Amino acid sequence: MEKKWWHQSVVYQVYPRSFCDSNGDGIGDIQGIISKLDYLHKLGIDVIWLSPVYDSPMDDNGYDISNYQDIAKEFGTLKDMEQLIQEAKARDIKIIMDLVVNHTSDEHAWFIEAKKNKDNPYRDYYIWRKPSADGKPPNDLQSIFSGSAWELDETTNEYYLHLFSKKQPDLNWENDQVVKEIFDMMNWWLDKGIGGFRMDVIDLIGKEIDKGIIDNGPHLHPLLQSMNKATFGHRDVLTVGETWGATVDIAKLYSNPARDEVSMIFQFEHVTMSWDEEHGKWRPKPFDLIKLKEIFHKWQTGLGKQGWNSLFWNNHDLPRAVSKYGDDKHYRVESAKMLATTLHMMRGTPYIFQGEEIGMTNVSFESIDSYRDIETLNFYRDKLAEGFTHEEMMDGLWANSRDNARTPMHWHTSEYAGFTTGTPWIDVNPNYSDINVEAALADENSVFYHYQKLIQLRKELPVVVYGDFELLVPKDQQIFAYTRTLDGHKLLIVSNFSAEKATFHYKEAVNSCKTLLSNYGNTYDLQQALTLAPYESAIIQIG
Ligand code: NOJ
Repeated sequence: MEKKWWHQSVVYQVYPRSFCDSNGDGIGDIQGIISKLDYLHKLGIDVIWLSPVYDSPMDDNGYDISNYQDIAKEFGTLKDMEQLIQEAKARDIKIIMDLVVNHTSDEHAWFIEAKKNKDNPYRDYYIWRKPSADGKPPNDLQSIFSGSAWELDETTNEYYLHLFSKKQPDLNWENDQVVKEIFDMMNWWLDKGIGGFRMDVIDLIGKEIDKGIIDNGPHLHPLLQSMNKATFGHRDVLTVGETWGATVDIAKLYSNPARDEVSMIFQFEHVTMSWDEEHGKWRPKPFDLIKLKEIFHKWQTGLGKQGWNSLFWNNHDLPRAVSKYGDDKHYRVESAKMLATTLHMMRGTPYIFQGEEIGMTNVSFESIDSYRDIETLNFYRDKLAEGFTHEEMMDGLWANSRDNARTPMHWHTSEYAGFTTGTPWIDVNPNYSDINVEAALADENSVFYHYQKLIQLRKELPVVVYGDFELLVPKDQQIFAYTRTLDGHKLLIVSNFSAEKATFHYKEAVNSCKTLLSNYGNTYDLQQALTLAPYESAIIQIG
């Protein structure tokens, strides 16, 4: 497999609204990010994935774009953005932008024109259908943010499609003019020196709405191939598609280098495995380690040379890793490190979500009024109407609301965790006085330094990047263990995913072994069975 720089990179996701506010308006901004680049450089990351900073009315915190070629005022200016690209580059960090092109904002100039009348040249930039015979929406397709996916435009008496909020009308990718506008816009950003794109819900752009095909539609891969050819294909960049419904076979279609589509995708099987069949993430199922191992094993071995994995536990849409997969009450530091080790030693490109590197946790706001996320608020309202109790729904929110990831980053112990000198747009998690960057940097045993070591190991050891993956003890209820092997080099990664002691016995012959990292500061002898403390985890080099 041809080697690429992003095979050995580690990506750090910045959610700009919640990262660092430089001007006291309570909202994070680009100058705030610039002020923290030295911190990110110290962590050792190579790439920043920047959630959207484009002009937007912020119905969905920037995933509703009203101008792709300008920056939202609360985040700064285009000049700030150019400065960020340059300052990051000076520290060997590339910036990848969020490409949100399944939909625009309803305040985008294209949509404002499109709504004027049916003959407007921009009309066909969006997806319009006549009302059904009884004046209702054309079909019962539901929006991902709840309610009908169709909104009536009263001026022209037609419905437009919005798979997300009604302020996020879907673009019509069957219109060549739309395709051209998007490709031109992508080239405009690439010419500014960005390092690639994270492609928001890209699996939706090939849809055939009248046939009920929404994701993985027939136009998807041809469109991505034309996109690759017209924009980033001849540039050395990282592209990652957000694809909720991807299977291993589908992932190969996207990321097989021979097909000239994208570098890799985000698959979500390990995320959705704990969602309820009927009520999704609002009624989560208990954690199932055996299933988790099965899923990672399938992806680690399944892609082979015909694709590349991305590795992540959390992002701005998901709960905090240590709260979902670890124990954020009794073993926060141990389990945060254990999770990091388990993920970062796999094959693929790891992604760290802001605050994960200091072990930030979910938040349990007492009142629904403290929540800001449109999806959370819509579902709270609708599920209560369906019969959920307030308490049940709050449990669902505490486990899975997107706002868990969106509370401000904890920088230090002063008011609002040093995120802002004003009033933050969303409350700070009250545990910031214990969990913050300043404290992490001052403690050589912190989660931060554990991440730093994992990133270094990836840079030092080709086996971490390219080694073959083999899962051990698949049916063990506590232990997640695997090996990575490349050209005679072998690593064993063993993690206890439980709050009880666990035993593990490596059965193969071992001549020598060297502990590279342990979250308990232990060294291990593989000649005998190991007893692992709660959430203990280790990387052992086997000779
Ligand atoms: C996925 C993004 O990650 C999420 O935050 C957003 O709400 C939807 N796509 C719609 O753009």
